[in-house]
Amino acid sequence: MSNPILTVENLEHVYMKGTPLEHQALFGVSLQVERGECIAIIGHSGSGKSTLIQHFNGLQLPQAGRVVIDGIDLSEKKLDVKALRRLVGLVFQNPEDQIFEKLVGDDIAYGPLKMGLPIKEVIERAKWAMDIVGLDFDEMKDRATFALSGGQKRKVALAGILSLRPKIIVLDEPTAGLDPYSRNELLERIKRLNKDEGVTVIFVSHNMEEVAHLADRVYVMAEGNIVHSGAPREIFGNREILTAYHIGMPETVEILHSLRELGYPVDPSAYEVDEAAREILSILPAARG
Ligand SMILES: Nc1ncnc2c1ncn2[C@@H]1O[C@H](COP(=O)(O)OP(=O)(O)O)[C@@H](O)[C@H]1O
Ligand SMILES: [Mg+2]
Repeated sequence: MSNPILTVENLEHVYMKGTPLEHQALFGVSLQVERGECIAIIGHSGSGKSTLIQHFNGLQLPQAGRVVIDGIDLSEKKLDVKALRRLVGLVFQNPEDQIFEKLVGDDIAYGPLKMGLPIKEVIERAKWAMDIVGLDFDEMKDRATFALSGGQKRKVALAGILSLRPKIIVLDEPTAGLDPYSRNELLERIKRLNKDEGVTVIFVSHNMEEVAHLADRVYVMAEGNIVHSGAPREIFGNREILTAYHIGMPETVEILHSLRELGYPVDPSAYEVDEAAREILSILPAARG
């Protein structure tokens, strides 16, 4: 832990400053993300998650405090926002906010085209990005974006960001509203991007199974602050944190905590399904043989 790609120090944010509607959303948030990490940000609605991550690609600029990403200080007077947007791809919660072109292929190729890349490379990048999210290039490139399903729109929005080849991707509730199959598929793609392509991933999620499965580390937010950080195992093994900040639990963890309360010596941090099964088997006399 020594070469962070992203550092946030004492970041504050006030919406509508100086008006009667003034509202402080961030109160001195600090965090660090190492190169190649997969980080989850969790916390109840209104805790400041979206406001925080909008600072990561310059949609919001620091009002107080510092954000430094791969050597770029977002408080610099001559901040190169274009360079920042190429470095950090932010995928919005709602894909409709991100898709502008009529045709899928045009939408995904838009970024690289604007970068002035030769057309051959633009197409290569679009193909590569579509392959990663699981969209068939020949079948999908001429499809109308408005007629896609929710899951397909999400994939197009993600591919459009990936075609810029960012070193960091930031996803705001990437699987909200997806059916279980599309959800698992998208999660596997994100995991591959992180593990195989070395892309640093930061994602906001309310789905604790997803957090448990994907994240190396978790930041818990409440009322505009980071109130806890640690490995998923640490967070889900700690009932006080889970209750104090109204964090849902993976079902496996819920079962293990309940068994523990009944006096059975199981380890509630064994959240992966096969680990949880082993914990449960360990207290069954029959299984002990
Ligand atoms: N554009 C805005 N203007 C005023 N207040 C806002 C705006 N966006 C968000 N807020 C407020 O800031 C707080 C944090 O919001 P947000 O970052 O969206 O939280 P989260 O993503 O965790 O749900 C909330 O109280 C929200 O109502
Ligand atoms: Mg949000």
